[in-house]
Amino acid sequence: MSGQRALVTGGAGFLGSHLCDALLGEGWSVIALDNLLTGRRSNLGHLRNEAGFEFIEKDICEPFDAGRVDYIFHFASPASPVDYMEHGIATLKVGSLGTFHTLELAKKHGAKCFVASTSECYGDPREHPQKETYWGHVNPIGPRSVYDEAKRFTEAVTMAYRRYHHVDTRIVRIFNTYGPRMQLNDGRVIPNFMKQALRGQDLTVFGDGRQTRSFCYVSDEIDGFMRLAKSDEHLPVNIGNPNEFTILECAQMVLRVTESNSKLRYEPLPQDDPKQRRPDIAKARQLLGWEPKVQLEEGLRRSLEYFQKAVAAETAKK
Ligand SMILES: NC(=O)c1ccc[n+]([C@@H]2O[C@H](COP(=O)([O-])OP(=O)(O)OC[C@H]3O[C@@H](n4cnc5c(N)ncnc54)[C@H](O)[C@@H]3O)[C@@H](O)[C@H]2O)c1
Repeated sequence: MSGQRALVTGGAGFLGSHLCDALLGEGWSVIALDNLLTGRRSNLGHLRNEAGFEFIEKDICEPFDAGRVDYIFHFASPASPVDYMEHGIATLKVGSLGTFHTLELAKKHGAKCFVASTSECYGDPREHPQKETYWGHVNPIGPRSVYDEAKRFTEAVTMAYRRYHHVDTRIVRIFNTYGPRMQLNDGRVIPNFMKQALRGQDLTVFGDGRQTRSFCYVSDEIDGFMRLAKSDEHLPVNIGNPNEFTILECAQMVLRVTESNSKLRYEPLPQDDPKQRRPDIAKARQLLGWEPKVQLEEGLRRSLEYFQKAVAAETAKK
């Protein structure tokens, strides 16, 4: 890959920054582009002096160009419910305008374009587990629609640029991913539980805690992205960990890993909260020879030091 240039939109975010690491590791030059809406410069701090790496602060809802690129990875978008509810309009804009601008750039430079979509495209699914062929069950006017519909639109624009402009595209449907560099306060289950457990606070469980989630450790997720990027598959591919846990099981695991004595506190389920979500990864297994290797308890252990430092840094700020 040496001499090849990749551009990562949302490069200062959780997944985008890990992707920058992986690309640099394979010899790519990398430009990370981000407006820092939900991402942080510190996620890229370790790359400051890295030859072949550049960070540009930019909002991709405006047209942009960073010179010749060979591959664009489009990851810019608020991703956690807390973030996309707070930045609803910005989420719709980056999924629509931002995606148009990204694909225009790919078209201009003859670059491939890899687009980050989401399991939220399946909504509150009527099929379980979710295969890529399932069209989803999304409430188009509910509070989560700013994200779900933005991502469904992102997929539609991506397919249109392929059909009408012959841009060489990839679409990954990402399921819940966790690991170092997640924001502490993004409202997602794992950072929430880790933070509460490390502070000795009650762990907040929504509903009765019997709704299930699957969680993929970040190194597995990035490995899936890299394999898909190198494949010829242009239809969506699920990348996630199919091992399902109830929220209650997850809470118990966090308590074990953090050696915390925190208790559980129950709160009402938010509107449109999916009750079950699990990827069918048969396609990724067959096509990419990919499957996750790091199971939840191991991933939580690998993430512990990051969360301990993040909690300590937040406490020191107060
Ligand atoms: N983390 C997950 O579990 C998960 C699951 C499904 C899909 N995804 C998708 O993966 C991508 C990355 O998610 P993440 O978890 O790293 O989130 P994140 O919030 O950490 O990263 C997103 C990045 O995009 C940037 N951004 C937002 N709007 C922008 C704009 N207009 N211009 C430039 N930059 C902008 C943010 O500042 C941030 O750095 C998103 O597209 C998200 O929808 C993530």
